[in-house]
Amino acid sequence: MNIPMVDLKGQYETIKTEIDSAILQALGETRFILGPNVQAFDQEAAEYLGVQHAISCANGTDALHLALLASGIQPGDEVITSAFTFIATAEAISFIGATPVFVDIQPHSFNIDPDQIRAAITDKTRAILPVHLFGQPADMKEILALAEEFDLLVIEDCAQSFGSRYAGSATGNIGLAGAFSFFPSKNLGCYGDGGMVTTNDDDTATQIKMLRNHGSSQQYHHDVIGVNSRLDELQAVILRIKLRHIDEYNRKRLDVARAYNDRLAGSRFEAPAIPDDRDHVFHQYTLLCDGRDAVREAVLAKGVACAIYYPIPLHMQKAFADTEQPRLPITEATAKRCLSLPIFPEMTGQQIDTVCEAVLSAA
Ligand SMILES: Cc1ncc(COP(=O)(O)O)c(C=O)c1O
Repeated sequence: MNIPMVDLKGQYETIKTEIDSAILQALGETRFILGPNVQAFDQEAAEYLGVQHAISCANGTDALHLALLASGIQPGDEVITSAFTFIATAEAISFIGATPVFVDIQPHSFNIDPDQIRAAITDKTRAILPVHLFGQPADMKEILALAEEFDLLVIEDCAQSFGSRYAGSATGNIGLAGAFSFFPSKNLGCYGDGGMVTTNDDDTATQIKMLRNHGSSQQYHHDVIGVNSRLDELQAVILRIKLRHIDEYNRKRLDVARAYNDRLAGSRFEAPAIPDDRDHVFHQYTLLCDGRDAVREAVLAKGVACAIYYPIPLHMQKAFADTEQPRLPITEATAKRCLSLPIFPEMTGQQIDTVCEAVLSAA
């Protein structure tokens, strides 16, 4: 049995009737740019997350970009973030002329370490950009306390954490702004690119709405230089339908993670902890092991997909080689030992067994 990392086709089959008829309806209406489904999705996503404003855009990278711009981060400012994340997190910081300052993660949550943030704060630091990696909320209480103490902004990278919650609040509803991705494989994914910024701050929301649409709030009146970064109407149709299923999708991911943890307990594989003080939505199920590359080869040879998120931490990427970078021992060790297993809501018990057998026999 071949097992993929995600089974988008399997999920589509379960909602095909709803999706197909809603797409046909939107095609018939032909309101393709900032149409009724985009407006409805923005409202429904805001309601779901309990946040004042949700402003959809073209992708998660743009969402970070828009959030940073709207919060007034200037060229030369420093933004503290994790090196153990996808390039987009830091790319957005660099793209607006600010400097990403990489700090280390905690060994078992894969998330940014608040003690390391404190050590990296300088006169130029303007913001902290935590990533809720693999669907687990970062230590937001400690991060907000640091932000308060040093007068810093907090922008959350929620690309992997749609629906996760921390101390009662959805991620994306904790800092000044949250940036989401609806890349197809994300917990809430569309059938192409999509993204969204959330905020409770009215001014930030107004800025983002303008920036995503050529700096305009009224047609052919351009108050600022913006970009073209609007969510596509057809993607909004898909997201509205999938939003109604997101709690079920996330619950099923958690069930898969629990089943993996039970099966891998006592083995040499370090399974991810399932925290009880925050809701982890398991965008990825990532374990740690020695001899990772050999394990990966053995698992792949059995027809079971597995992946390395992330093989090269950002502070070691060529794109950042022109600035002096720190050594980040936990990040670097994690990049050598991490292995992500297939996880998706439609996984069957038999598929879970097959994955576990492939992993355990690689021991
Ligand atoms: C942590 C993180 N940040 C940002 C992004 C960027 O999202 P997108 O691919 O929608 O631009 C992604 C996803 O790819 C991500 O995983």
